[in-house]
Amino acid sequence: MELADLLGRRTAREAVEQLLAGARAGHSGALVVRGEAGIGKSAVLEYARSAASRSGFRVEHSVGAESETQFALSGVHQLCASLLDRAGALPEPQQAALGVAFGMRGGSAPDRFLVGLAVLNLLAEVAEDGPLLCLVDDAQWLDDASAQVLAFVARRVGAERLALVFAVRDSDEGEALPFSGIPELRLDRLGETDAWALLTAASRVPLDDVVRARIVAEARGNPLALLELPRTAQPAHLAGGFELPDGPDVPRRIEDSFQHRSASLPAPTQLLLLAAAAEPTGEAQLLWRAAEHLGIAREAAAPAEVAGLLEIDARVRFRHPLVRSAVYQAATAPDRRRAHGALAEATDPEVDPDRRAWHRAQAVFGVDEEAAAALERSAGRAQARGGLAAAGAYLQHAAELTPGRPAVRDGRWKPPTPSTRPARPSSPWTSWRSQRPDRWTRCNGPASNCCAPRSRFT
Ligand SMILES: Nc1ncnc2c1ncn2[C@@H]1O[C@H](COP(=O)(O)OP(=O)(O)OP(=O)(O)O)[C@@H](O)[C@H]1O
Ligand SMILES: [Mg+2]
Repeated sequence: MELADLLGRRTAREAVEQLLAGARAGHSGALVVRGEAGIGKSAVLEYARSAASRSGFRVEHSVGAESETQFALSGVHQLCASLLDRAGALPEPQQAALGVAFGMRGGSAPDRFLVGLAVLNLLAEVAEDGPLLCLVDDAQWLDDASAQVLAFVARRVGAERLALVFAVRDSDEGEALPFSGIPELRLDRLGETDAWALLTAASRVPLDDVVRARIVAEARGNPLALLELPRTAQPAHLAGGFELPDGPDVPRRIEDSFQHRSASLPAPTQLLLLAAAAEPTGEAQLLWRAAEHLGIAREAAAPAEVAGLLEIDARVRFRHPLVRSAVYQAATAPDRRRAHGALAEATDPEVDPDRRAWHRAQAVFGVDEEAAAALERSAGRAQARGGLAAAGAYLQHAAELTPGRPAVRDGRWKPPTPSTRPARPSSPWTSWRSQRPDRWTRCNGPASNCCAPRSRFT
């Protein structure tokens, strides 16, 4: 995003500029950008990226993904992967902690504090060369271990020329993320002038003033709504005034709009879209292999691209995270199982055994000993990396697949203890709205495929 692309948001720009100026001058800092879906958090992060790049910062980033919450420290790994060549400068215990945490060497599960220190020192080491900006988008979906480690780092930065910016979406599920205490910027609705400007810039067809005014009122200053609602709302509705004072909130309406758009696509395209929604790595080759298992030709992607829902080149990119959750939520349980089954087949068991095991478990209907055993092996690996929450989630899921399993009987699986974080749904692809009771009724598959929230391990 060009700097000029961000309409309004003066306070946000100033906060970002101040953070960057501080880091350049050797006063590190962190900022948490909060707000509802579509309000412009990622856009502010992009603004920070452009501004930082222009003033000589190195920029690294990490993005939380609903489906990654079971992969301990995957968020930290994303952020640090390209910095690991500098890890040699760290004290040996910290090098060892990072090595074990990232699965690069064996050893006992590292202490979380030690991993936090190692990450802080690694970032500081890199910032010796020049200021460093770390962007963490969709931090509400970071795995527990990453959220704790990154919040630890954000609270302890000092004179390292470091800046960290987190984007956190408001949640229906209660707020207990570990970012409390870090300076916060709340994004509210865009002002009316900016909303009009955004709508005008984005409109493909001329809109008359009544319609335009209706969209602006309806979108309630949410930029994503301003961009998306005109694409699905019927002109007759717009002109007739479909704004309902007690209607669903704006992000829900946007998600409904994406669902509406994907529901009108041909069946193979919808299934391909579902497979893409269920696979967060964004590797196009993986999606094509899964499509082959599903008997879908690559051409099936074209209608979804034309509808502006996703783009595929070497990577698979959704127009917005809400498209992913809208597509996944709208799918029937059997279709979800088909998509996960194909993704499991398409995932290399040598390279990514955990993800394969997870897809496989999501594809199961009823009891499946083999899928449960694969999950137990993933639990063992997660535990070795220090990902107790992830290990617990794997084991819990394994227990659901085979209630009488030895791991459960011999006490290796324990019932969840109360979590310091909000309960997350066990299906990793459930959306921010997964707790809407009206959506639960769609989940008519087995417990493992249901949207109902479950407790998490700490
Ligand atoms: N101030 C702005 N000016 C122009 N476009 C904007 C602005 N804010 C957001 N947008 C655009 O609106 C869309 C939604 O914004 P964005 O993706 O940043 O929302 P978000 O808060 O990150 O949502 P989510 O919680 O779902 O990740 C994007 O296409 C973005 O480029
Ligand atoms: Mg975002």
